[in-house]
Amino acid sequence: MFNREEIIKILKDDTKNDWLFNLADKIRKDNVGDEVHLRGLIEFSNICKCSCKYCGLRSPNKEIKRYRILKDEIIEYVKNAVNLGYKTIVLQSGEDEYFTTEKMVEIIKAIKKFDVALTLSIGERSFEDYKAFKQAGADRYLIRIETTDKELYKKLHPNMDFNNRLRCLQDLKTLGYEVGTGCLVGLPEQTIESLADDILFFKEIGADMVGIGPFIPHPNTPLKDEKTGSFTLALKVMALTRILLPDINIPATTAMETLNPNGRILALQSGANVVMPNVTSTEYRAKYEIYPNKICINDNPDKCRGCIEGKIKSIGRTISTDYGFSHPKNK
Ligand code: 5AD
Ligand code: FES
Repeated sequence: MFNREEIIKILKDDTKNDWLFNLADKIRKDNVGDEVHLRGLIEFSNICKCSCKYCGLRSPNKEIKRYRILKDEIIEYVKNAVNLGYKTIVLQSGEDEYFTTEKMVEIIKAIKKFDVALTLSIGERSFEDYKAFKQAGADRYLIRIETTDKELYKKLHPNMDFNNRLRCLQDLKTLGYEVGTGCLVGLPEQTIESLADDILFFKEIGADMVGIGPFIPHPNTPLKDEKTGSFTLALKVMALTRILLPDINIPATTAMETLNPNGRILALQSGANVVMPNVTSTEYRAKYEIYPNKICINDNPDKCRGCIEGKIKSIGRTISTDYGFSHPKNK
């Protein structure tokens, strides 16, 4: 479809945005249809050993109350989510070493007793861990590359290694996971050129899912005084991702809705086909503060399910009743 030069040109020119969003919407419709897949998200620990400069969960942040949700309580949320009709559960956490291989395997096996697909989003782990999780029944794994600009990556991720993140993505592919990745849009010093490279990277690694969200500065991080990422630019990166990878799954991200009250609907009309509502109880929501003003922090699973169902139906789309595996033709 578009080459690097064309992608850069489109990203820099705001006069043809409606054309871009309509094209992405059409390509979404032709390739993955009108169904929207809902994934029930369980943010089970906000404890993290990393220090990503943009993230409110970073370990040097002493202002947030940390929590862990253990297996039995996770299973309660899964049960409730299944009753609400969810066909996929997403387990997300900070990089919390309490959840050893054995503990994760136990949780995975318990969840897979239900009729659901399971996605993990728990950060960088060894090949052996990923293998154990897969054997226990995990189906998918999300790990954003965050940015493919190696210099920027290094500045934003103290004590982390870009190559190890790549290794994780490769291991997950090798092990047969459906692999999700993605990036932040509007990071300090991030260039339009590097965003074009991010989009081409998603294509090159054969991502099954790509999540894109604007950067939102968190007050308890070193980036607190930086500019908020542009909603429109994030939407454009997402639309271009749909055009280059026509048959993957693309979520309308929570960060988009945080910047624009209609953000997820606009995303669903510009290439997205997935929404990931929270299915944990209200008490934990505000504490999983990756960035400020996250939506739904005072809501509960029933409310979110009803809310999102209403929004989806209001734009003439339907809610999928299957597991929503991606079937990239280019695999
Ligand atoms: N603004 C927006 N998104 C953020 N993330 C982390 N911190 C922020 C922030 N300040 C995103 C990262 C991570 C995902 C779980 O949340 O891309 O992969
Ligand atoms: Fe939570 Fe709308 S999705 S209230």
